[in-house]
Amino acid sequence: MSQSISLHKKSILVTGGARGLGKAFASSLVEAGAKVAIADILVEEGNATANSIGAQFFEVDITDPSGVTRCIEEVIKRLGGIDGLVNNAAIATGIGGPRMTDIEVEVWDKVMNVNVRGTWLVTKASVPHLAKCGNGKILNLASDTALWGATNLMHYVASKGAVVAMTRSMANELGEKGISVNCIAPGLTEVEATEYVPEERKQLYRENRSLKRTQMPSDITGSVIFFMSDASDFITGQCLPVNGGFVMN
Ligand SMILES: NC(=O)c1ccc[n+]([C@@H]2O[C@H](COP(=O)([O-])OP(=O)(O)OC[C@H]3O[C@@H](n4cnc5c(N)ncnc54)[C@H](O)[C@@H]3O)[C@@H](O)[C@H]2O)c1
Repeated sequence: MSQSISLHKKSILVTGGARGLGKAFASSLVEAGAKVAIADILVEEGNATANSIGAQFFEVDITDPSGVTRCIEEVIKRLGGIDGLVNNAAIATGIGGPRMTDIEVEVWDKVMNVNVRGTWLVTKASVPHLAKCGNGKILNLASDTALWGATNLMHYVASKGAVVAMTRSMANELGEKGISVNCIAPGLTEVEATEYVPEERKQLYRENRSLKRTQMPSDITGSVIFFMSDASDFITGQCLPVNGGFVMN
Protein backbone atom coordinates (compact mmCIF):
# COMPACT_ATOMS: atom_id res chain seq x y z
CA MET A 1 0.00 0.00 0.00
CA SER A 2 1.35 3.45 -0.91
CA GLN A 3 2.22 5.76 2.01
CA SER A 4 1.49 9.02 0.17
CA ILE A 5 -0.65 11.81 1.60
CA SER A 6 -2.61 12.28 -1.64
CA LEU A 7 -6.34 11.63 -1.34
CA HIS A 8 -6.74 11.28 -5.12
CA LYS A 9 -9.50 8.71 -5.92
CA LYS A 10 -10.77 8.65 -2.31
CA SER A 11 -14.43 9.33 -1.58
CA ILE A 12 -14.89 10.81 1.86
CA LEU A 13 -18.03 11.59 3.82
CA VAL A 14 -17.91 14.36 6.42
CA THR A 15 -20.93 14.60 8.71
CA GLY A 16 -21.78 18.03 10.05
CA GLY A 17 -19.85 19.60 7.19
CA ALA A 18 -22.15 22.58 6.65
CA ARG A 19 -20.20 24.89 8.93
CA GLY A 20 -17.49 25.10 11.57
CA LEU A 21 -14.78 22.46 11.76
CA GLY A 22 -16.62 20.09 9.40
CA LYS A 23 -16.60 22.76 6.69
CA ALA A 24 -12.85 23.30 7.17
CA PHE A 25 -12.22 19.54 7.08
CA ALA A 26 -14.33 19.08 3.93
CA SER A 27 -12.60 21.96 2.20
CA SER A 28 -9.09 20.69 3.00
CA LEU A 29 -10.02 17.16 1.89
CA VAL A 30 -11.22 18.55 -1.46
CA GLU A 31 -7.93 20.46 -1.77
CA ALA A 32 -6.04 17.21 -1.07
CA GLY A 33 -7.77 15.61 -4.08
CA ALA A 34 -10.69 13.72 -2.51
CA LYS A 35 -14.28 13.54 -3.73
CA VAL A 36 -16.14 14.86 -0.69
CA ALA A 37 -19.72 14.46 0.50
CA ILE A 38 -20.97 16.59 3.33
CA ALA A 39 -24.04 15.46 5.25
CA ASP A 40 -25.81 17.82 7.61
CA ILE A 41 -29.18 18.73 9.06
CA LEU A 42 -28.68 22.35 7.90
CA VAL A 43 -29.88 22.27 4.29
CA GLU A 44 -29.36 25.83 3.11
CA GLU A 45 -25.97 26.24 4.78
CA GLY A 46 -24.91 22.76 3.68
CA ASN A 47 -25.75 23.42 0.02
CA ALA A 48 -23.98 26.79 0.10
CA THR A 49 -20.88 25.24 1.68
CA ALA A 50 -20.83 22.33 -0.78
CA ASN A 51 -21.12 24.73 -3.74
CA SER A 52 -18.38 26.99 -2.43
CA ILE A 53 -15.80 24.24 -1.79
CA GLY A 54 -16.55 21.75 -4.59
CA ALA A 55 -18.21 19.07 -2.45
CA GLN A 56 -21.65 17.43 -2.71
CA PHE A 57 -24.36 17.99 -0.12
CA PHE A 58 -26.65 15.39 1.46
CA GLU A 59 -29.38 16.19 3.96
CA VAL A 60 -29.44 14.00 7.06
CA ASP A 61 -30.45 13.96 10.69
CA ILE A 62 -27.92 11.51 12.11
CA THR A 63 -30.32 10.52 14.89
CA ASP A 64 -32.84 9.12 12.39
CA PRO A 65 -31.89 5.51 11.46
CA SER A 66 -33.88 5.32 8.21
CA GLY A 67 -32.75 8.82 7.20
CA VAL A 68 -29.13 7.79 7.77
CA THR A 69 -29.60 4.65 5.63
CA ARG A 70 -31.16 6.72 2.82
CA CYS A 71 -28.35 9.27 3.02
CA ILE A 72 -25.61 6.64 2.77
CA GLU A 73 -27.39 4.98 -0.19
CA GLU A 74 -27.55 8.36 -1.92
CA VAL A 75 -23.85 9.02 -1.23
CA ILE A 76 -22.98 5.64 -2.76
CA LYS A 77 -25.12 6.44 -5.83
CA ARG A 78 -23.49 9.81 -6.38
CA LEU A 79 -19.89 9.14 -5.26
CA GLY A 80 -19.61 5.46 -6.17
CA GLY A 81 -18.35 4.35 -2.72
CA ILE A 82 -17.02 5.51 0.64
CA ASP A 83 -13.32 5.17 1.45
CA GLY A 84 -13.33 7.45 4.47
CA LEU A 85 -15.82 8.69 7.05
CA VAL A 86 -15.29 11.70 9.30
CA ASN A 87 -17.84 11.52 12.13
CA ASN A 88 -17.85 15.23 12.92
CA ALA A 89 -21.55 16.11 13.43
CA ALA A 90 -22.39 16.82 17.04
CA ILE A 91 -24.14 19.20 19.35
CA ALA A 92 -21.17 21.19 20.56
CA THR A 93 -22.74 22.49 23.75
CA GLY A 94 -21.55 25.41 25.69
CA ILE A 95 -18.43 25.75 27.69
CA GLY A 96 -19.53 27.67 30.76
CA GLY A 97 -22.91 25.91 30.74
CA PRO A 98 -24.80 24.36 33.66
CA ARG A 99 -23.10 22.50 36.48
CA MET A 100 -23.76 18.75 36.38
CA THR A 101 -26.47 19.10 39.04
CA ASP A 102 -28.35 21.57 36.83
CA ILE A 103 -28.25 19.81 33.44
CA GLU A 104 -31.81 19.12 32.26
CA VAL A 105 -32.57 15.47 31.48
CA GLU A 106 -33.94 16.37 28.02
CA VAL A 107 -30.75 18.25 27.17
CA TRP A 108 -28.58 15.35 28.39
CA ASP A 109 -30.60 12.91 26.22
CA LYS A 110 -30.40 15.14 23.14
CA VAL A 111 -26.62 15.51 23.37
CA MET A 112 -26.14 11.76 23.84
CA ASN A 113 -28.58 11.03 21.03
CA VAL A 114 -26.67 13.10 18.48
CA ASN A 115 -23.08 12.74 19.66
CA VAL A 116 -23.06 9.06 20.60
CA ARG A 117 -26.03 7.28 19.01
CA GLY A 118 -25.82 9.38 15.81
CA THR A 119 -22.11 8.65 15.43
CA TRP A 120 -22.82 4.95 15.81
CA LEU A 121 -25.73 5.01 13.31
CA VAL A 122 -23.70 6.69 10.57
CA THR A 123 -20.80 4.32 11.17
CA LYS A 124 -23.08 1.27 11.12
CA ALA A 125 -24.58 2.26 7.76
CA SER A 126 -21.16 3.08 6.26
CA VAL A 127 -19.24 -0.04 7.32
CA PRO A 128 -20.35 -2.33 4.44
CA HIS A 129 -19.10 0.28 1.97
CA LEU A 130 -15.88 1.09 3.85
CA ALA A 131 -15.13 -2.64 3.93
CA LYS A 132 -15.11 -2.80 0.14
CA CYS A 133 -12.05 -0.57 -0.29
CA GLY A 134 -9.60 -2.73 1.69
CA ASN A 135 -8.25 0.07 3.89
CA GLY A 136 -11.34 2.06 4.90
CA LYS A 137 -10.87 4.89 7.38
CA ILE A 138 -13.06 6.24 10.14
CA LEU A 139 -12.12 9.35 12.09
CA ASN A 140 -14.31 10.30 15.04
CA LEU A 141 -14.35 13.76 16.57
CA ALA A 142 -13.80 13.58 20.31
CA SER A 143 -12.77 16.62 22.35
CA ASP A 144 -9.94 17.26 24.77
CA THR A 145 -12.60 18.24 27.34
CA ALA A 146 -13.15 14.48 27.78
CA LEU A 147 -9.46 13.96 28.52
CA TRP A 148 -9.10 16.57 31.26
CA GLY A 149 -12.61 16.50 32.75
CA ALA A 150 -13.83 19.97 31.79
CA THR A 151 -16.47 21.42 34.09
CA ASN A 152 -19.89 22.92 33.35
CA LEU A 153 -20.55 20.80 30.26
CA MET A 154 -20.59 17.27 31.65
CA HIS A 155 -23.21 15.99 29.17
CA TYR A 156 -20.92 17.00 26.29
CA VAL A 157 -17.81 15.68 28.08
CA ALA A 158 -19.54 12.33 28.72
CA SER A 159 -20.60 12.09 25.07
CA LYS A 160 -17.04 12.73 23.89
CA GLY A 161 -15.66 10.22 26.40
CA ALA A 162 -18.05 7.73 24.82
CA VAL A 163 -16.67 8.63 21.39
CA VAL A 164 -13.13 7.79 22.60
CA ALA A 165 -14.36 4.45 24.01
CA MET A 166 -16.41 3.65 20.88
CA THR A 167 -13.37 4.38 18.73
CA ARG A 168 -11.47 1.59 20.48
CA SER A 169 -14.32 -0.95 20.22
CA MET A 170 -14.94 -0.03 16.59
CA ALA A 171 -11.23 -0.46 15.85
CA ASN A 172 -11.24 -3.92 17.42
CA GLU A 173 -14.40 -5.02 15.62
CA LEU A 174 -13.61 -3.55 12.22
CA GLY A 175 -9.92 -4.43 11.93
CA GLU A 176 -10.77 -7.74 10.30
CA LYS A 177 -12.50 -5.78 7.53
CA GLY A 178 -9.34 -3.73 6.98
CA ILE A 179 -11.00 -0.63 8.43
CA SER A 180 -9.00 1.56 10.79
CA VAL A 181 -10.77 3.76 13.34
CA ASN A 182 -9.19 6.64 15.23
CA CYS A 183 -10.30 9.82 16.91
CA ILE A 184 -8.89 13.29 17.36
CA ALA A 185 -9.48 15.40 20.45
CA PRO A 186 -9.24 19.08 19.53
CA GLY A 187 -8.91 21.84 22.07
CA LEU A 188 -11.13 24.90 22.08
CA THR A 189 -11.05 26.10 18.46
CA GLU A 190 -12.32 29.33 16.92
CA VAL A 191 -15.50 28.59 14.91
CA GLU A 192 -18.99 30.12 14.81
CA ALA A 193 -20.09 27.78 17.64
CA THR A 194 -17.38 29.00 20.04
CA GLU A 195 -17.88 32.74 19.44
CA TYR A 196 -19.92 32.97 22.65
CA VAL A 197 -17.16 31.49 24.85
CA PRO A 198 -16.09 34.18 27.35
CA GLU A 199 -12.74 35.81 26.61
CA GLU A 200 -11.38 34.76 30.07
CA ARG A 201 -11.95 31.12 29.19
CA LYS A 202 -10.22 31.53 25.83
CA GLN A 203 -7.33 33.25 27.60
CA LEU A 204 -7.09 30.31 30.04
CA TYR A 205 -6.67 27.93 27.10
CA ARG A 206 -4.04 30.12 25.45
CA GLU A 207 -2.01 30.43 28.66
CA ASN A 208 -2.15 26.72 29.51
CA ARG A 209 -1.17 25.41 26.09
CA SER A 210 2.46 24.64 25.31
CA LEU A 211 1.89 26.59 22.08
CA LYS A 212 0.51 29.86 23.42
CA ARG A 213 -2.00 31.01 20.85
CA THR A 214 -5.59 30.62 19.74
CA GLN A 215 -6.40 27.30 18.05
CA MET A 216 -7.81 27.65 14.54
CA PRO A 217 -9.58 25.06 12.31
CA SER A 218 -6.47 24.99 10.09
CA ASP A 219 -4.54 23.61 13.09
CA ILE A 220 -6.64 20.43 12.84
CA THR A 221 -7.08 19.87 9.09
CA GLY A 222 -3.63 18.25 8.65
CA SER A 223 -4.48 15.49 11.12
CA VAL A 224 -7.78 14.84 9.32
CA ILE A 225 -6.02 14.50 5.96
CA PHE A 226 -3.45 12.18 7.56
CA PHE A 227 -6.07 9.91 9.13
CA MET A 228 -8.00 9.73 5.83
CA SER A 229 -4.86 8.84 3.88
CA ASP A 230 -2.92 5.62 3.24
CA ALA A 231 -0.12 7.12 5.36
CA SER A 232 -2.11 6.17 8.49
CA ASP A 233 -2.85 2.60 7.34
CA PHE A 234 -1.39 0.81 10.39
CA ILE A 235 -2.71 3.16 13.07
CA THR A 236 -6.01 2.22 14.68
CA GLY A 237 -7.88 2.62 17.97
CA GLN A 238 -5.95 5.79 18.87
CA CYS A 239 -7.00 9.14 20.24
CA LEU A 240 -4.80 12.05 19.15
CA PRO A 241 -5.16 15.28 21.10
CA VAL A 242 -4.79 18.20 18.66
CA ASN A 243 -4.65 21.08 21.09
CA GLY A 244 -1.24 22.76 21.13
CA GLY A 245 -0.20 20.69 24.14
CA PHE A 246 -3.09 21.60 26.48
CA VAL A 247 -3.48 17.89 27.26
CA MET A 248 -0.74 15.36 26.58
CA ASN A 249 -1.43 11.62 26.15
N1 LIG B 1 -14.93 23.96 18.05
C1 LIG B 1 -14.31 23.40 19.09
O1 LIG B 1 -13.72 24.09 19.94
C2 LIG B 1 -14.28 21.89 19.24
C3 LIG B 1 -13.37 21.34 20.14
C4 LIG B 1 -13.33 19.96 20.29
C5 LIG B 1 -14.17 19.16 19.54
N2 LIG B 1 -15.06 19.72 18.69
C6 LIG B 1 -15.93 18.81 17.90
O2 LIG B 1 -15.80 19.11 16.53
C7 LIG B 1 -17.01 18.83 15.85
C8 LIG B 1 -17.48 20.07 15.09
O3 LIG B 1 -17.77 21.09 16.05
P1 LIG B 1 -17.94 22.62 15.65
O4 LIG B 1 -17.27 23.40 16.71
O5 LIG B 1 -17.58 22.85 14.23
O6 LIG B 1 -19.52 22.80 15.89
P2 LIG B 1 -20.70 23.22 14.92
O7 LIG B 1 -21.91 23.30 15.75
O8 LIG B 1 -20.31 24.43 14.12
O9 LIG B 1 -20.79 22.01 13.89
C9 LIG B 1 -21.55 20.87 14.13
C10 LIG B 1 -22.23 20.48 12.82
O10 LIG B 1 -22.99 19.30 13.07
C11 LIG B 1 -24.28 19.46 12.50
N3 LIG B 1 -25.27 18.64 13.22
C12 LIG B 1 -25.68 18.78 14.50
N4 LIG B 1 -26.65 17.91 14.78
C13 LIG B 1 -26.84 17.16 13.66
C14 LIG B 1 -27.72 16.08 13.32
N5 LIG B 1 -28.61 15.60 14.20
N6 LIG B 1 -27.64 15.56 12.08
C15 LIG B 1 -26.76 16.05 11.17
N7 LIG B 1 -25.92 17.09 11.42
C16 LIG B 1 -25.97 17.63 12.65
C17 LIG B 1 -24.58 20.94 12.66
O11 LIG B 1 -25.63 21.35 11.81
C18 LIG B 1 -23.23 21.56 12.35
O12 LIG B 1 -23.07 21.80 10.97
C19 LIG B 1 -17.98 18.36 16.93
O13 LIG B 1 -17.95 16.94 17.00
C20 LIG B 1 -17.41 18.96 18.19
O14 LIG B 1 -17.81 18.27 19.35
C21 LIG B 1 -15.14 21.07 18.51
